[in-house]
Amino acid sequence: MTKHFLKDDDITPSQQAQIIDRAIKLKADRFSERPFAGPQTVAVIFDKTSTRTRVSFAVGIAELGGVPLIIDSGVSQLGKKESVADTARVLERQVAQIVWRTYSQAGLDEMAANSSVPVINALSDSWHPCQLLADLMTIKECFGKTEGLKLAYVGDANNNMANSYLVACAMAGMDVSIAAPEGYGPDDAVLDRAREIAGIQGGKITSSNDPLEAVESAHVVVTDTWVSMGMEDQAQERALVFQAFTVDSALMSKADKGAIFLHCLPAYRGFEVSADVIDGSQSRVWQEAENRLHAQKALMAWLAEQN
Ligand code: CP
Ligand code: NVA
Repeated sequence: MTKHFLKDDDITPSQQAQIIDRAIKLKADRFSERPFAGPQTVAVIFDKTSTRTRVSFAVGIAELGGVPLIIDSGVSQLGKKESVADTARVLERQVAQIVWRTYSQAGLDEMAANSSVPVINALSDSWHPCQLLADLMTIKECFGKTEGLKLAYVGDANNNMANSYLVACAMAGMDVSIAAPEGYGPDDAVLDRAREIAGIQGGKITSSNDPLEAVESAHVVVTDTWVSMGMEDQAQERALVFQAFTVDSALMSKADKGAIFLHCLPAYRGFEVSADVIDGSQSRVWQEAENRLHAQKALMAWLAEQN
């Protein structure tokens, strides 16, 4: 069975830890692994816009000895003119791996079901698992561990990032504390899954409407845009709903003294985060953005060995 990475718990907690450690090694010795030597080609498909994901996969594939083939779905047949399954059948015969940023998780499942080469989720409406590998790597670099640390997520908890934080951080042995406005909290099924994993890994998952309670003694404070891709028509209404959920210096002062701030980016200063926090001394967002490269290289190298 081909191994894919469509959501955070498609790998085990120990595989997650191995990939993060491998990413830290690759960062120190950037050209030490060449699984795509040949060169083999990796397809990277975008149905939504991107800066970090596009750059980090293109650079990472090249650094692993391969050739990135970036496909914007608007200029391909995928979607309207050709099914996902037929696209997979064409790609699997030519490329080493398929990376896809899309809307529905079901589309990714269908691509994977029809592909003999690994499929990687580069963000869907449901999950952003590659981002979490980079975030956990950053946390490990900053604290030397992930286990036993508390992460607080403040803002829209009903989106891909909140889902991935809940599950991936529970896998990494962390406590996760969510604060979101009424009606914008985590999905029950995701919360249940995170609690199930936390029960095994030794973490605790809490969800409330109170940012102060969530960040209390947190080691890592995170947020994400209030308006995810595809929700642009709700921007005005969301700006009002989320008003009391900005991560600002007053909120950061309630976290642990050594707390760091992370954001997957792009960030909207003055909305989900104040400029003084994202541009301040506790922010690690540029290190986090760089780590997308190293974490995804480790993931692709690992997947190349599984299949
Ligand atoms: N964080 C992230 O995935 O950024 P892009 O949307 O720019 O790829
Ligand atoms: N939740 C955001 C993440 C962007 C990387 C979105 O889906 O737009």
